[in-house]
Amino acid sequence: MARLRRVVVALGAPGSGKTGGLIRPLVQRYLAAGGQVRILDPAGEFDELGEWPGRGAVDEWIDELTACGEGPRAGGWGPGLLVLDDADRYLGPGRSKAWDDVWMANRHLGLDVLVSAHRPQGVPKELLGAAHELWLFQQDEPRALEYLADIPALRPVFEGNEHPLPNERGLALRVLVREQQLQLVRLF
Ligand SMILES: Nc1ncnc2c1ncn2[C@@H]1O[C@H](COP(=O)(O)OP(=O)(O)OP(=O)(O)O)[C@@H](O)[C@H]1O
Ligand SMILES: [Mg+2]
Repeated sequence: MARLRRVVVALGAPGSGKTGGLIRPLVQRYLAAGGQVRILDPAGEFDELGEWPGRGAVDEWIDELTACGEGPRAGGWGPGLLVLDDADRYLGPGRSKAWDDVWMANRHLGLDVLVSAHRPQGVPKELLGAAHELWLFQQDEPRALEYLADIPALRPVFEGNEHPLPNERGLALRVLVREQQLQLVRLF
């Protein structure tokens, strides 16, 4: 995903392999290619690379990072990869202007965005609708696919495509939204 300015969302049950199988290798590749990375990391998975201001302070954290949605030209951070691990622990399904900017204006902000969550219902619909790519790991939410297929921007990729969900750790269904392609990928 390096520098394509993509929005990528990984969804799956706890322990399905989102952080270790997808996010960590992508972060390592991004850094190895000379890119900059910021990681909102409530679980402390990334040691000194991760940041955690506390659940009550994440809106301020993102406003500071994006310069209130104005981006690098106004002193915001970037270009780079922004990772939001375990996003359903601090973002709800509702809208917030500070976060909407991240998904809806990521190109202007110079950001690649990589988000993980347990359930699609736990993150903003605007994020899901703006995603270029989904990685669907093993799900413990039985209605996850119906919920995703109900989002207008995602409906075409699920309609008329076979989509067996992974049934073990380390496997993910990669969904390329605009290309309308689904691929089962073994990450470990
Ligand atoms: N790259 C890898 N190679 C081998 N095993 C892995 C790898 N990544 C993760 N695992 C195994 O899978 C387990 C769960 O992985 P991981 O922590 O990535 O899940 P997760 O989906 O991020 O879970 P959570 O939602 O709780 O954060 C790890 O404890 C480890 O045993
Ligand atoms: Mg994780």
